[in-house]
Parts: sequence; C-alpha cells; structure tokens
Amino acid sequence: MADMGIPRILYKPSSEKIEHLSALSKKQANQGIRLPEIGFGTWNYRGGVEPLRAAIECGARLIDTAESYGTEEIVGEAIKGRRHQVFLATKVLPRNFRRRDLIAAAERSLRRLGTDHIDLYQLHWPNLTIPIAEPMRGMEELVDAGKVRFIGVSNFSVRDLVNAQAALSRQQIAANQVRYSLIERTIEGGLLEYCQKNGIMIIAYSPLATSLRNIRAVDPERVLRRVAQASAKSEAQVALNWCVSKENVIAIPKASTVAHVGSAGKEGA
Ligand SMILES: NC(=O)c1ccc[n+]([C@@H]2O[C@H](COP(=O)([O-])OP(=O)(O)OC[C@H]3O[C@@H](n4cnc5c(N)ncnc54)[C@H](OP(=O)(O)O)[C@@H]3O)[C@@H](O)[C@H]2O)c1
Repeated sequence: MADMGIPRILYKPSSEKIEHLSALSKKQANQGIRLPEIGFGTWNYRGGVEPLRAAIECGARLIDTAESYGTEEIVGEAIKGRRHQVFLATKVLPRNFRRRDLIAAAERSLRRLGTDHIDLYQLHWPNLTIPIAEPMRGMEELVDAGKVRFIGVSNFSVRDLVNAQAALSRQQIAANQVRYSLIERTIEGGLLEYCQKNGIMIIAYSPLATSLRNIRAVDPERVLRRVAQASAKSEAQVALNWCVSKENVIAIPKASTVAHVGSAGKEGA
C-alpha cells in the first residue's frame, strides 16, 4: 500500500475518500490520525449485507468485527467492491497472543474478510498469562508485512497501555476500544484523559448502552427523550453525538436493520 511508510497517519484518505469522509471524520491533533467519527459494530450482528452497506453509504466507514464474533465473513461480503471506502477493524482473542498464534489468527481473519490487509488489528482483551511483548512482536511483523496498517488494543487500562507501548519498538498504539456511553463513563476516571494526552483514539463500544432501553431504565425523567425532541433528533443520534463530541472519541454502534442505520446516522445531528 502506498502510504504504509507513514506510520503516524492512521487514516490517509485518497481524494475520493476525502470527498466522502471529510464531514464525518475525526482528526487527532498530535498524530494526524483521521477516522470516520461513526463506525459500525458487528457483535451479535445478524442483519445480512444490507444494513452494513447502508452504513457504508451513510459514512459509517469504520467497520468493527472480531475473530470471536462470527461476523468477519458477512463483513467481507458486504465490503466486496467497496474495500477502498472502508476502514476495517478486527480483533484477535487473548488465547492467540503467542506470536505465531497471532500471525495465524490474522491470516484466518484476512481470509474470512476477503482482503489483503486489516486497517486496525486489535488485541481484544489483556491477557495476563502471556507477556505483552509476544503479541506486540507479532503485530509489528504484520505491519512490516503490509498485512496490518495500525495496531490497536481493546479493554486496556492505563497501565496495560503503558506496558503495551513499551513492548513496541517501531509502532505506536493507535486506538483503545472501550465501553463508553451516556450511562457507562468509567473511562472518565483517567483512561480517557490519558488517551487524549497520548494521541490514542478511543473507540467507544456499546455507545447505545447495548440497547436504548438500558439508558431509559436509569433515566426516569426522560432527559434523553426530551433532548431528542427539543433538537428534532432521534434518541440514538443524541446518544452517539454525546460520545463523539468528546475529544479523540469515535463510536461504533451496532444496528441490524437499515431503518436503525438511518435513524442512528449522525448526519445533521
Ligand atoms: N471490544 C469489546 O470488548 C466490545 C464489547 C462489546 C461491543 N463491542 C463492539 O461495539 C459494538 C456496539 O456495541 P453493542 O453491540 O454492545 O451495542 P450498541 O451499539 O450500544 O447498541 C446496539 C443496540 O442498539 C440498537 N439500535 C441501533 N440503532 C438504533 C436506533 N437508531 N434506534 C434505536 N435502537 C438502535 C440495536 O438494535 P438492532 O440490532 O435491532 O438494530 C441494538 O439493540 C459491537 O457490535 C462491537 O463491534 C466491542
């Protein structure tokens, strides 16, 4: 790939991509990183190719999957002929963190996704039983081979991040995927600030709290609904906009229907 040699650019759009993504992307000041602000998650996704393709059309061009989700094949099918429009993120399970296992897991993901590179390859959870140097060595080899563009992690604490970065010799950790929503704000206890200061993108998972019902259950005064009505937006749009209004935070909601994709879209929100 032409821009593999520019390690500090996470997303360097071609002119076509700039046209589509400039209004919806988020740039990290200290890394020059540019990513779609709203992505699309596929955990428990059963929607087939149409909602995925609708999401891509709406600009939700970061698609997140994982070897454990069982959705890499459907993602691969949905992005056929559209690979250049998509920033593809997947994850490796902690049990595959030995260097050779990680490389083999990446090869399997590439096959299932039907692509020759993963844009963001993420360690799904920390694994305290395998030294972090093992997966990070494998990750750097995958980057050197052009099979992975950027290294990410998920569910990592500040201490995990410090150790993981120290184990990398040539690359930087680009993103940490963590739970973050109106009702799950644990990362505000220090992790969010650390990532903001260190140029690590936060990818907010479960940004709709896995279901808007979970937000309503702790919102007896119906604040979310009232804000949505007052701003003529859907509750999903308000919840997502709240996440991505934070510096260095992008969000990856999951939607199984084209209707939900449309009403969660950030356009105009
Ligand atoms: N790294 C990790 O450990 C980890 C853990 C959990 C999740 N994740 C990632 O984060 C993604 C999203 O998290 P999530 O799946 O837990 O939940 P979420 O995105 O917070 O919520 C998904 C729920 O919201 C509904 N929804 C979507 N659009 C809507 C709309 N416009 N109006 C009303 N409801 C709407 C969906 O319904 P329908 O499905 O019926 O459309 C689904 O029930 C996952 O798919 C996965 O990629 C990562």
